[in-house]
Amino acid sequence: MIIALNNKCNLTKEEFLTYMTKLNEIQSKHTIILCPSFTNINLYSSNSIHLGAQNVSSYEEGAYTGEISAKQLKKLGVEYCIVGHSERRIYQKETNTDIKYKITHLLQENIRPILCIGESKEERESKMADKVILQELESALSDLKKEDLNKIIIAYEPIWAIGTGFIPNNDEIEEMFSIIKQKYPDNPVLYGGSVNQNNIEELKKISSIDGYLLGGLSLKINELQTFVNRL
Ligand code: 13P
Repeated sequence: MIIALNNKCNLTKEEFLTYMTKLNEIQSKHTIILCPSFTNINLYSSNSIHLGAQNVSSYEEGAYTGEISAKQLKKLGVEYCIVGHSERRIYQKETNTDIKYKITHLLQENIRPILCIGESKEERESKMADKVILQELESALSDLKKEDLNKIIIAYEPIWAIGTGFIPNNDEIEEMFSIIKQKYPDNPVLYGGSVNQNNIEELKKISSIDGYLLGGLSLKINELQTFVNRL
């Protein structure tokens, strides 16, 4: 299984150094990917946990103040990068075109994109969830060569489940995973959105889940260890 930890906009330098020490004590046979804030990437240190980023510029390099390129990430040892997180689509108005460029630059640097997709509450209620995620996938991935496509990790994160404590029921998750896997059978698909050490027992019953993308739980080391033990 792949367990990706999205720290989001949390942990100062000092807090991160303490966190990193504790995280390294977690025992797991699974692939753990830590995605810290940009400011903490250079402070990462681990023999067992992989390094990811939370975002990348849609530009290759140049006069783009505040942006960080795929090449810069690569030189820091980044192996994975989240793209298209709903928080960026909503707050930074990131478009499917931006996301496509980001994926292109990441693949050029041999960094594996973790592409986030997911529907809003309104889209689910109006039975548009499947159309929304397929469109997000299609627009990001349609032009990729097979060998590049195989490097993509897909993360299904219903927007209404992120940080809310609400989580789809197993039938709903299975339905979405089956839609994704019919079109992209060779890509790992993660579930994200309010995953914790309690609901993992129920989620574990879904055999098509290849891993999890964790937000809040990524910051709670003790609960994270319990979660990993239960996998
Ligand atoms: P929570 O686990 O806090 O709901 O966040 C999920 C998420 O957005 C991970 O990218």
